[in-house]
Formats: sequence, C-alpha cells, structure tokens
Amino acid sequence: MTTSVRDLQERSLGATLRRDAWWIAPALTALVLGSFGVYATWAAWVNRFYEWGPYLSPFYSPLIQTTWWPLSPAFLILIFPGGFRATCYYYRKAYYRAFFLDPVACGVGEPRHGYKGETRFPFILQNVHRYFMYAAVVFIFILSYDVFLATRWPVSGVLADGTMGPGPRQFGVGIGTLVMLINVVLLSCYTFGCHSLRHLVGGWMDKFSGRPVRKAAYDCVSCLNRSHMLFAWCSLFSVALTDLYIRLCAMGVIHDWRIV
Ligand code: FES
Repeated sequence: MTTSVRDLQERSLGATLRRDAWWIAPALTALVLGSFGVYATWAAWVNRFYEWGPYLSPFYSPLIQTTWWPLSPAFLILIFPGGFRATCYYYRKAYYRAFFLDPVACGVGEPRHGYKGETRFPFILQNVHRYFMYAAVVFIFILSYDVFLATRWPVSGVLADGTMGPGPRQFGVGIGTLVMLINVVLLSCYTFGCHSLRHLVGGWMDKFSGRPVRKAAYDCVSCLNRSHMLFAWCSLFSVALTDLYIRLCAMGVIHDWRIV
C-alpha cells in the first residue's frame, strides 16, 4: 500500500514526505512579521520621539492632535496601513502559513481537514482589501508631502530639543530626507502593485483597444505586481527603519547629517 501526500495531510500537522527545509520560510516570516508587529505597536504606544526638525515618522503622519482620543494618535493612523497589509493577498498567504500553519507549506500536514476558504466569518472580512487600498493610495500622497516638508529647513536651524527654529525656511536635504524619500518610493511600489488596484484599472476588461491610457496604467500596475512580494517586504523594512531613524535623532542617540 502506498502513502500519498493527501494521506499525510489528513493525518497530522507537519506530516510530510518532503526532505527539504520547508519550515525555514514560515519560521522566518513569523519572526520578521512578529518583530515588526511588536515594534510598530510599541512605537505607536509611546507617543514620543516621532519628530525631529522637518522630519515626521510615517507612523504619526498625518499629525493628529486631538483631545477626544485617549490613546496615541498613531493608532488612529495605523488602522489604515495596518489593515491594508493585513488584508493584502500576499501577506495573507505569508501569515496563514507562518502563524496559523494553515497550510504551513505545500505537501505538509495541516491542523484541520475541512476547507471553507475565505467564505465565512471572520476571513470573509478580507474582502475589504479594496477599501483599504483606497486609503493606502491617499497615504502615499500624505507621505510624499512629508518628504517635501523634509526639504524645508529653518534658516535659524534646528533647536537643541529637536524643534524647528523660528523664521523663514530654505531648501535643504539631510540623510533623514533621503530615508523618507526611499520609504515613499518603496511604499508606492508596493501600493501601486496591489492586485485589487490591478483589477480596478483594467483586470476586469476583455480588451484594451482604443484605451491607451488605461492600457498603460494596467501595464504599470502589472509590472509592479510581478514583484509584489519583494516590495511588500522592502516597504515593511523601510517604514520601520524610517521611524527608527527619526526616533533615534529625536532621542539624541544619533545626529542627522545635512547633505545640502
Ligand atoms: Fe497586496 Fe493589495 S494585494 S497590497
């Protein structure tokens, strides 16, 4: 009697005929996504050190000052980029494997034997991804404006406490400006390669003849979409590192270097 992969899947979690190190990818994913989740939650919770000179952390942009919300305003902001990533088609695959072990890898036993996909609560809520995508596009413009502001330096300089000196502003570029710029570029590549956006701009059409602008937009989104996984990870690192850079400047741990 032979043992098929399906037999193993129906037996127990982790049962497999595979001989390769299939567990490395889900373990690394769990480590990196888990670390990012802990760091982002902590950075949002502390509600300090998110500004230095003309720099503003992406976790706190747009800057919200309110009295009715008792917690850090970063939580109001992170609902949108956080929801966008949590419902992303690529991240779903990654964290279903890493955290739910469901399936942990191809050809490896799963913890359950029934499959309903995302047709029932709570996973049916993943269908809100398109709406988070609309919000994510708005955030690209907000963060791009932050990069512009990061080139507007006070002529009187940045004060010792990290606030902007009084008086007029002038053009300038610091390392932080470049860090913020790279972050926006990577976030744009991730956001504008979204599967939902690709469907929206032309994925539902049978033919593009006579619609050159839509065809060009569809080709651009498709081009970014081919590297969606890469941009998902790169932008995750860049957004955390941008917050960390500005945080360390604000804490006085490192000093920003003015290039121009
Ligand atoms: Fe990944 Fe939309 S599918 S961001």
